[in-house]
Amino acid sequence: MPGHANIIIAENADRLAVMGVELFCRNARRGIERSGRFAVAISGGSTPRAMHRLLAREPYVSEICWQKIHLFWVDERLVPAHDPASNYGAAREDFLAAVPIPTEQVYSMTSEKPPEDAAAEYQQKLEACFGKGPEKFPRFDMIFLGVGPDGHTASIFPDDYTAETTDLPVVPVKGGNPDLYRLTLTVPVLNHAKCAVFIVSGRGKAPLVKTLLTAEPSQLPARKIQPVNGRLVWLLDCEAAELLG
Ligand code: 6PG
Repeated sequence: MPGHANIIIAENADRLAVMGVELFCRNARRGIERSGRFAVAISGGSTPRAMHRLLAREPYVSEICWQKIHLFWVDERLVPAHDPASNYGAAREDFLAAVPIPTEQVYSMTSEKPPEDAAAEYQQKLEACFGKGPEKFPRFDMIFLGVGPDGHTASIFPDDYTAETTDLPVVPVKGGNPDLYRLTLTVPVLNHAKCAVFIVSGRGKAPLVKTLLTAEPSQLPARKIQPVNGRLVWLLDCEAAELLG
């Protein structure tokens, strides 16, 4: 079992989405009480979409103080927002267009520039929100992550160490399915978070979850996410957790 992971198991995918949005609301309330804002990064992929849709529905949409939310992406495919592969496009469809978050607090990863320029622009967006203080990396209140079938997370893929051995907060990469140019927050940023939450659903992920959550040594990218001074939460449905015993 890696580090100090909290494992929460939901009976099914619908409950998983509810538990995810409740975690979002609880941490947002706590973060806003403490520091007057909540800086959160969300992932793409299919798993989090049910939770994202709940963000725009009662009781959650009214519970969240959207004026104090600063929304970032963990990663993005460098395609236009209307492209089905766009993580921003999916979020806009799922909740963003329906919640009163100030547009200047929605920090999308631009896809209209060459990868290096897009990464530089996003680093400026991170600095605009987190400042350029003594801390080398932005410290998110919460980061939601998924796990791909190959053990990737964000757009940090097996055998690609670009996002691991860097002192940059965001880097351009190429890979994944679909195989595209992407931007991804880097391992140091993910490990600097106050809370990193993996949300994993489905029987197909069960062997991977077992590998990632047991003592088996693993070089898989998802295993490298161990917040140094923060919480690590694995939010699983029963199917994804079924091999944990
Ligand atoms: C991306 C995601 C990616 C995702 C995993 C899991 O942009 O592709 O950030 O890291 O979280 O691939 O995706 P599913 O939830 O669809 O299994």
